[in-house]
Amino acid sequence: MTLRVTVVTIFPKLIEQYLNSSVLGRATQRALLDVTVLDLRSYTDDPRRSIDDSPYGGGPGMLMMPEPVFRALADPHVVRPTIGLSPIGATFRQSDAVALSQLDGFTLLCGRYEGFDARIEEACDRLISIGDFVLAGGELAALVVIEATARLLNGVLGNEESAREESFAMDRLLEHPQYTRPRVLGGHEVPEVLLSGDHEEVDRWRYAQRLLRTLERRPDLIEARGGISREEVELLHRYGYDEVLQTMNKERFER
Ligand SMILES: C[S@@+](CC[C@H](N)C(=O)[O-])C[C@H]1O[C@@H](n2cnc3c(N)ncnc32)[C@H](O)[C@@H]1O
Repeated sequence: MTLRVTVVTIFPKLIEQYLNSSVLGRATQRALLDVTVLDLRSYTDDPRRSIDDSPYGGGPGMLMMPEPVFRALADPHVVRPTIGLSPIGATFRQSDAVALSQLDGFTLLCGRYEGFDARIEEACDRLISIGDFVLAGGELAALVVIEATARLLNGVLGNEESAREESFAMDRLLEHPQYTRPRVLGGHEVPEVLLSGDHEEVDRWRYAQRLLRTLERRPDLIEARGGISREEVELLHRYGYDEVLQTMNKERFER
């Protein structure tokens, strides 16, 4: 099945150039991804091809005008849901990428200037933000959403396991540490367990590492998954990671 994505932007080349490279290029060549880029200026009705205007009530900068956007959204290439990229949207997460990868397609609307006229925001099926910061335009955000989604499609990555084992995917934890050659580098050795050939023990150790890393770096993710279980506490104990358990709030154990 092909995921059909339409992007509405005033900078089509920005999107097209990136799409031709690496993972997204491969997904397109394999007909797993089909991206149509619509140039918003093609939907204007004045000689200057205007797509922005000053805000009512005053204030700095210009806003994206609703009419060209509404005309673009009526284009037959537009696939619903329509998603406006905006700092006021819900924060994009791996689980959203998974959900989008299971759709037939979707449309991404890129803002510029001071953003959208509020009626554009209302017309979108949903708004997505890629984080609590402000970009100059929605194009990078659109590419972030497309790449995070397309790499989850079957056949895009060389090894399907890699997407399954990554951060946020498994047990909603961060990924465990990974090593390649050399075995010893500047006094730092690859953990012995990874050389043991005991796959069950490797899996257990990796799981403990995922827990440890997430507890240390992203306690918010631990809270979002409802804490850690008794078995997980025991696993951390087994590897001697008791210190991190002592720093945890009691409620994080209740899972
Ligand atoms: C300069 S921003 C507008 C910011 C807007 N005035 C505000 O304060 O929320 C211009 C455009 O960049 C895009 N953009 C900026 N930051 C973004 C983010 N964190 N996530 C998604 N899109 C973003 C949106 O499409 C937005 O319309």
